[in-house]
Amino acid sequence: MKGVILSGMQPTGQLHLGNYEGALKNWVRLQDEYEMYLCIVDWHSLTSDYNDTTGLKERVKQMAIDYLAAGLDPNKCAIFTQSEVKEHAELHLLFSMITPVSWLERVPSYKEKTVELGLDSYGFLGYPLLQAADILVYKADTVPVGKDQLPHIEFTREVARRFNNIYGKVLPEPEALLTSSPVVPGIDGRKMSKSYNNDIRIADSEEVTAAKLKKMFTDPQKLRKGDPGRPEICPVYDLHRIYNPAHEEIVAPCKSGELGCVSCKKNLTEYLNQALAPVRALRTEIEKDDSKIWNILKDGASRARVKASQTMADVRKAMRIDW
Ligand code: TRP
Repeated sequence: MKGVILSGMQPTGQLHLGNYEGALKNWVRLQDEYEMYLCIVDWHSLTSDYNDTTGLKERVKQMAIDYLAAGLDPNKCAIFTQSEVKEHAELHLLFSMITPVSWLERVPSYKEKTVELGLDSYGFLGYPLLQAADILVYKADTVPVGKDQLPHIEFTREVARRFNNIYGKVLPEPEALLTSSPVVPGIDGRKMSKSYNNDIRIADSEEVTAAKLKKMFTDPQKLRKGDPGRPEICPVYDLHRIYNPAHEEIVAPCKSGELGCVSCKKNLTEYLNQALAPVRALRTEIEKDDSKIWNILKDGASRARVKASQTMADVRKAMRIDW
């Protein structure tokens, strides 16, 4: 029997190279081996952005386009929005009955963000519990995520264990699947992130990509061609590592000063644009047909619902609330 994967992402809109290298490419590989559910967690986004919902629908759509452009095949995996599968909410509510508030208060992301962002809603406290419901409502055994999500997966396992102890074994304890992926620096050298405004997007044109790379930080000690550079600390070189198959050949000329940053960035632009060309072409194609995108999400939701409603039947039965 195939393993079951659930993963989720908040609807942040257009995705960037960090998302592509860190998540999407892995998912594309995994879709052949697993029964896979990919959930766009719109309810989770309301835990912080409840005030700003005007662009939400567009952000969901743009993200779905990037999923498809990256090669996720809606015939192989169910791509859907969380709010279209109400079973997530039902399981979250039932979990809320058996989960001590102290468990939620000690989740690291809660402690950090409640102070940092001033978030103090009931829903925000329950963020990891909703995430546990997302995962367990599919009886997923595998959750591909980044390291930052490990506390949430551990929390999910604790909730599953508590449920099983009280009502009998219904839910599996899922494992995180950490796949090594390259560090993708943004144009300012920090980790690529939309909130840092340093990202290069799948949806960017070749020209926008070139303009962004032109501005990218390099070794601060290399001011002009002729100055010796240090590829090992240069964010442009980090991108070469990913997109330029011959990246090792630029190390010596960079170090000697013979290779200047301007032409080094030009070379990178070509490799990067070349690598993304098929994804971008597919993106342009997909973007033309709005109704097709929404239909893919609808269809994904109905397939997800089949699985989720089976789990909920088991859950209600175990709890003896299956009237
Ligand atoms: N918390 C995850 C993040 O910020 C998003 C998420 C919500 C998720 N539900 C999930 C991830 C279920 C994996 C599985 O990235």
